[in-house]
Amino acid sequence: MASYAGSVPSPTLPSPTLPNSQLTRAVIATATVGVAGLTYAAGIERNAFTLRETTLPVLAPGSSSLRVLHLSDLHMTPGQHRKQQWVRDLARLDPDLVVNTGDNLAHQRAVPAVVQALEPLLGRPGLFVFGSNDYFAPRPKNPAHYLVRQHRRVRGVPLPWQDLRAAFSERGWRDATHTRHRLEVNGVRIAVVGVDDPHHRRERLGTVSGPAPVDAELRLALTHSPEPRVLDEFAANGYDLVMAGHTHGGQLCVPFFGALVTNCALDRSRAKGPSRWGSHTWLHVSAGLGTSPYAPVRFACRPEATLLTLVAAQQRPGVR
Ligand SMILES: [Fe+2]
Repeated sequence: MASYAGSVPSPTLPSPTLPNSQLTRAVIATATVGVAGLTYAAGIERNAFTLRETTLPVLAPGSSSLRVLHLSDLHMTPGQHRKQQWVRDLARLDPDLVVNTGDNLAHQRAVPAVVQALEPLLGRPGLFVFGSNDYFAPRPKNPAHYLVRQHRRVRGVPLPWQDLRAAFSERGWRDATHTRHRLEVNGVRIAVVGVDDPHHRRERLGTVSGPAPVDAELRLALTHSPEPRVLDEFAANGYDLVMAGHTHGGQLCVPFFGALVTNCALDRSRAKGPSRWGSHTWLHVSAGLGTSPYAPVRFACRPEATLLTLVAAQQRPGVR
């Protein structure tokens, strides 16, 4: 065998810098923690469906209490059987009223799965508004956009939201989008309004403007995305409670710190749960039950439904 050793001059190379053992261990540990975290976020926490319960003093003084089940952001695909069964089992709570604040769909053929999951609840009084993910299918996005609020909207193919709306409406749930409704549940007179998804600037506040009816014991407003400009309008009109979803509670949260983002102009301290908006109005934001199929992770932010027990306030400043 011919040997070329010595026939070709060796290039002058810098002395290789061998990683020291500490650096190697740190890289391995970081990678291990990262993989473990992703495995947990995608495989465990994303499916750790949780019922949160809270009590809000939002009804007119002297009113009976009202148990409201708040559902949001199911982002359902046909194969998500565990989530579908968990939602079906919520009927055991026997709520007086169900409120669905949108983003039910994540697949063109998901309407039957959503309707089947909600079937036991569709016999209850129900109210809903839709979110952008009811109208358009999810698409892959740059994960970095998660941390950027004003990124360009990416729309997928249209989804059959009309079929979902028809299924809800046939069972008696009321679409509050740009509409005023009056209903009485458990002896509580309710006036409700809602807007289309402000996240895509679909809201038409003119259709729901004006003072909330003073004779209702619950003045309720619905929006998918809790954009402050919409919350300000509802609060200025005297609504007692605004219910919203969209934020996913931040979806990827930091333990003992909370949400990093809300995916809208809402401050991150209100990413989920109840908070006051102005001097009179309460805001309740659901962290929702799903995620985009292209971002199937949750961390320190379990998927949730909420059972709100609405009770009488001691007083309603300026409206009675
Ligand atoms: Fe959503």
